[in-house]
Order: sequence, then C-alpha cells, then structure tokens
Amino acid sequence: MEANGKVSWMQHRLKTACLFLRPVQESDIPAIQKAASAFAVADAMISIPHPYPEDEAQRFVETQRELMSKKQSLTFSMIETEKKAFTGLISLRDFEPEHQTAELSFWVAPNAQGRGYMTEALPSVLDLAFKHLELNRIYAYHMLRNVPSGRVLEKCGLRPEGPKHGVKCGKFEDVLLRAVLREEWSKISEQLISRVRERYAVELGGS
Ligand SMILES: CC(C)(COP(=O)(O)OP(=O)(O)OC[C@H]1O[C@@H](n2cnc3c(N)ncnc32)[C@H](O)[C@@H]1OP(=O)(O)O)[C@@H](O)C(=O)NCCC(=O)NCCS
Repeated sequence: MEANGKVSWMQHRLKTACLFLRPVQESDIPAIQKAASAFAVADAMISIPHPYPEDEAQRFVETQRELMSKKQSLTFSMIETEKKAFTGLISLRDFEPEHQTAELSFWVAPNAQGRGYMTEALPSVLDLAFKHLELNRIYAYHMLRNVPSGRVLEKCGLRPEGPKHGVKCGKFEDVLLRAVLREEWSKISEQLISRVRERYAVELGGS
C-alpha cells in the first residue's frame, strides 16, 4: 500500500483461461534469461540484443520494477496456471500521461509459442489499460515479416497506422506501427473478453 492509500501497480493481477499474469519479479530472472537468449525470441524483438548478455535478465527485471514503482511501465509475466511455468512477458511501456499513451511489447518463450497464449493474454492487458490505467491509445510496432505478431495485434483491434523503419542487428527492418484507441476498444472488448469470461478476473492495484 502506498502512502496515499492507493495500491501499487506491483499488485495488479490478471487471470485468463490458462494463464495468470502478475508483475515481473526476481524469481523470473532465470526463465527470462533462458528464453530471451533464444533466436526465436530475439530475432523479432528490436529491444532484445542477440547474443543476449549474461545478467541482462537481471538488469531488465530490476529496471522494470523500478519503472513500475514510478508508474512509468507495467510488465507482466505470463504464468501457465496448471504447470506454474513462466511463458512470456507483456509490457506497457513509455507511459505518456499527458497524451494517455503507452507502447505495447510482448514475447512468448520458444517452447510455448503457437499455443494461443498471446491471443489469450493480450485482451486482458488491454482491458486493464483502457479501463483502469487511464490510457487512451496503445500502440505497438512489429516487423512486417513477423506474421504471428501482426496477427495477434490485428485480432486485438490494433489497426495499422503506417510503415516505419527500425534497426535490428545493424540492418533496416520494415516495421508496421499499429494502435488502438479506448473508444475502439470499448466496441470490441466484450467479444474478445467473452471467450475467457468465466475465468477472467482482475485484481486491481491503484491507478
Ligand atoms: C509473436 C508471438 C508473441 C505470438 O505469440 P503466440 O502465443 O505464439 O501466438 P498465438 O499462438 O496466440 O498465435 C498468433 C496467431 O499467429 C498465427 N501464427 C503463428 N505462427 C505463425 C506463422 N509462422 N505464420 C503465420 N501465422 C502464424 C497463429 O495461427 C495465430 O493466428 P490464428 O489465431 O489466426 O490462427 C510469439 O510468437 C513470439 O513471442 N515471437 C517472438 C517474439 C515476438 O515476435 N514478439 C513480438 C514482437 S512485435
């Protein structure tokens, strides 16, 4: 609990059919180090270096927890409920309170990709963001060659805003910027959330 009586962002919890999402914590470091070191994750992520330096996961987690304490970023670890296994990360970062925007970034561990986890988890994070974090626009970049990422974002209502160039390993990549506004989300969220409604739950921290 914070001095002003509000609960911190570190206490946000989300539950979907097969997943439990909670803010990233120190115990996730070994799983993050292993998964982010894999080419299957790093290749499509401009923010993840490859090779992934030793201790990079520790630095990442410490930075995220610091940013979360200042409400500048919110990074969830996705935990597969049954096996209690770490399956990936979803971040809302670069919060701009003035414009009520944040950037979405995410990845799934190689052995858990293609099982529908991100399709299941993202709507719960978007719903939290629009309904409880005072955000009005959420955007994400994905490489054009990254078909699964584009597909997940498209299914969650993030429409293309325009092509960009990003640099990955010293080379230019064609990147697509996508975004969704709160008013757009309100029209599609019912349908997206209803799929996991029976086991969808939010335990809120402060806004
Ligand atoms: C992109 C990523 C997050 C998707 O997560 P996921 O849990 O594997 O995705 P899902 O299983 O929910 O599937 C997403 C969709 O992409 C489709 N898809 C998956 N692999 C595909 C492929 N190789 N080619 C075409 N479509 C593919 C799936 O069929 C599904 O679409 P559908 O529901 O219409 O069938 C995950 O693959 C990943 O972490 N990749 C590496 C890091 C990354 O790209 N992060 C995002 C950077 S912007």
